[in-house]
Amino acid sequence: MVIKNLDYTNKAVMENAINEAVEYIRTKTDKRPSIALVLGSGLGKFAEYLENADIIPFDTIPNFPQSTVEGHSGKLFIGEIKGHCIAVMQGRVHYYEGYDTQTITFPVRVFSTLGIKSIILTNACGGVNKHFAPGDLMIIEDHLSHFCPSPLRGVNLDIFGDRFIDMSSAYTPEYIALAEKTAKNLNIKIQKGVYGYWQGPTYETAAEIRAYMALGADVVGMSTVAEAIVARHCGMKILGISCITNMTCIYSKGGTNHEEVVEMGRLTADKFINLLANIVEQL
Ligand code: HPA
Repeated sequence: MVIKNLDYTNKAVMENAINEAVEYIRTKTDKRPSIALVLGSGLGKFAEYLENADIIPFDTIPNFPQSTVEGHSGKLFIGEIKGHCIAVMQGRVHYYEGYDTQTITFPVRVFSTLGIKSIILTNACGGVNKHFAPGDLMIIEDHLSHFCPSPLRGVNLDIFGDRFIDMSSAYTPEYIALAEKTAKNLNIKIQKGVYGYWQGPTYETAAEIRAYMALGADVVGMSTVAEAIVARHCGMKILGISCITNMTCIYSKGGTNHEEVVEMGRLTADKFINLLANIVEQL
């Protein structure tokens, strides 16, 4: 597996790379999705609920970043759910794999160029807020990007947005309200809060969690923020939902381990997928 980062100092290179991917996708589907969904760990089976899906492996799409996890190259599904055409990313890449954030967010640029105006970002994360519990879902109201290298660094792609962009209310208030109402109607316990970005792949130390707490984070996780920044740059509406797979190390004697994260993700998947399907129906 070779990690290839995009040359974000060269506008023509970036724009050509995006156009190549878009043109390829258009040869593989005649569907015109209006929503994109990035599935976090454990949520892959959401894609199975799509009707009439065209399935495009990431490793066939020009310039698309490939997951470094053996056998998990990732797939783009373009299909329908409850009458809505949606592009679903089953799998995503992370900064800790060796990609820079400009490359991680390449699929968001592709979605925007395909005409998609709404994006749902999902993830697994650790609980920082003491009132949260493993298995809870949290609507992201805001994020802390301090430790996330900016995906907008480099040449500004002004076909998408301006050099300096507003990040207040980045997570679309009407989507937050819709997600909260939908969870309540489905009797799904839902939290709301701030997602703090953590580069990983280590889990955090206790001092780091205390620092995040002081900064105002309710959860901490290794994805989503770069994608949200680029989606914002592209003028997309954004909904973020996290699954709290574990409470962070200050709450647990044995620290954090990957197996517990994966297991709780698995146990929560059906509830999470049900919520997502019902939200998509209303977008
Ligand atoms: N920290 C960072 N990322 C995570 C965690 C965590 O505790 N759990 C799942 N993703």
